[in-house]
Amino acid sequence: MDVTIIQRNKKLVFKAGEGSVLAVAASAGILLNAECNGSSKCGKCKVRLLGGAGSAPNAVEKQFLSQQELDNGWRLACQLAVRNSMVLEIPDQSHQANPWKPAAAFLPSYPPDPAVRKEFVKLSPPGLVDQRADYERLRDSLMIPGRGIDRELLVTLPTKLREAGYSVTVALTQDRIIAVEPGNTTAQSYGLAFDIGTTTVAGWLIDLNSGKIIAGQAKTNLQNLYGPDVIARINHAATVEGLDNLHGRILDTLNPLIGELLKEGTVAYQHIYEAVIVGNTAMAHLFLGVPPVFLGRAPYVPAFSREQVITAKEARLRLLPTCQVTILPNIAGFVGSDTVGVMLATDIEQRPGICLAVDIGTNGEIVLAGRGRLLVCSTAAGPAFEGARIKYGMRAASGAIRNVSINTDGVCVSVIDDINPVGICGSGIVDAVAELLKVGVIEPSGRFVSTEVAQTMPKTLRERVRRGSDGMEFILVKASSGIEDIVLTQQDIRELQLAKGAIFAGIQILLKELGASEEEIAEVLLAGAFGNFMKLESALTIGLIPRVDPTRIKGIGNAAGTGACMALCYQGMFRKAVGLAGRAEHIELSDHPDFQDKFVEALGFPTEGGDCR
Ligand code: FES
Repeated sequence: MDVTIIQRNKKLVFKAGEGSVLAVAASAGILLNAECNGSSKCGKCKVRLLGGAGSAPNAVEKQFLSQQELDNGWRLACQLAVRNSMVLEIPDQSHQANPWKPAAAFLPSYPPDPAVRKEFVKLSPPGLVDQRADYERLRDSLMIPGRGIDRELLVTLPTKLREAGYSVTVALTQDRIIAVEPGNTTAQSYGLAFDIGTTTVAGWLIDLNSGKIIAGQAKTNLQNLYGPDVIARINHAATVEGLDNLHGRILDTLNPLIGELLKEGTVAYQHIYEAVIVGNTAMAHLFLGVPPVFLGRAPYVPAFSREQVITAKEARLRLLPTCQVTILPNIAGFVGSDTVGVMLATDIEQRPGICLAVDIGTNGEIVLAGRGRLLVCSTAAGPAFEGARIKYGMRAASGAIRNVSINTDGVCVSVIDDINPVGICGSGIVDAVAELLKVGVIEPSGRFVSTEVAQTMPKTLRERVRRGSDGMEFILVKASSGIEDIVLTQQDIRELQLAKGAIFAGIQILLKELGASEEEIAEVLLAGAFGNFMKLESALTIGLIPRVDPTRIKGIGNAAGTGACMALCYQGMFRKAVGLAGRAEHIELSDHPDFQDKFVEALGFPTEGGDCR
């Protein structure tokens, strides 16, 4: 069967077997926005059937598509089967957007001191009076001898030494020789740092001589095929072949990401000697192919917490087989090395006063440091801040509405890459809700005002409030040139309330455990890709973070990734990360006696007086 896919005026024709349009498109490398992974829950996988016969729309399609849309050929890719040749159009909204390129991590300005270093040596050639073996000859020449060598390297060593005329560069870790290269290659020494998130994997390529970041890229975590959040992945890992699937998918994400980083930095893979990885605990397990099943059951115990050091060959990464791969330690079942990365990047223990750091991703991790203590917790915030479970939600990627301002003159949106908007990302959702609260379109309870009240509003606002298929909604962007109305629904607002309520409740519990009040917080640090675009004022307006003086709040971007970069470049930072993980006190929220009350209290939006309603 020939399947023709038309996307942004480009046409792709390929041979396909039977399967859903979603699966067939994926096999041709076209990833659709399939937030629920074809489980009939999101309705985001819309495609238009332009030619060829399709089965009659089923109940799921009738639930998500209007009669007018069905009449115009719109279908859901996960429900429509390919049984004959077809011509399909994929609109921008249904295309799975690539994540936003990660911001450059901020690194100290002093020279790096990585765990891997290179040394150029000129060996005296062997002779009848000096018959030392090749490996011993090499080892004796090193400033710090007594290192082991991989069998793989030993196999090629005699030829390498002779071909190089006994002038070679050796790459060394603390206890191993990991590469022997002809000539002086000390100028080429690079490392990789990765932040493996549930939704997005970000990576950086760093020159280990200068400490400069020379490339940064991000990719969708291809495990999303098996569910949008950590719990879905843990559950899938417990199924037959589930662990292998998830392990394979993270490698299918990381290996192409490595390729892109090397291409961007014009660096050969042979010159990468170490990779440092952070991620939530479940992602670290899945990267290593370790079953995360017991993370999903009380008492949520991980298989390992300490740092893990393996080779690229063991990790199945397309790098020098002997390249060292280090996974930073995790703290608890749901507080991973990404949180250790945040603590490291922010130097949170050394900051004056009580410091709160919140890392907002698919989960929300919270750190509270002060009075000589370091408290951490994780909240199941849900993926709303990543745009999931939001009608027009999407991640922060090209075409996402990232900021919104609303006043009586109308609505103004800014869109990533300044193109036509196709959806709204976390910062846009927070902004939109904050602005709707300010202009009175939604009440502090989160409900839309009644239609009678809406009628009293200026025309520019009232014409945007309407009853849609899912209840009340607000039109953020009106339909134009093939783009349908982008709306924020009552259900979207509820999702945001659940997410921000969980985070706010977690903050309150950590404050209580520390015996501190909101007023005593000296600094609030907001981490996560989301923090790059979010207006801090909007975060305060919706009650995502405690009401502190806005000058005390800072967006710090991908601090987890920065922490990984630091641990890669500085051995002292790596040791510090290990110490931070060991000192952190984990507070389990799921059975905390106060959590439910605090969560319910935090669901509403703050009123002028500061209370949530
Ligand atoms: S992927 Fe089709 S409904 Fe969710």
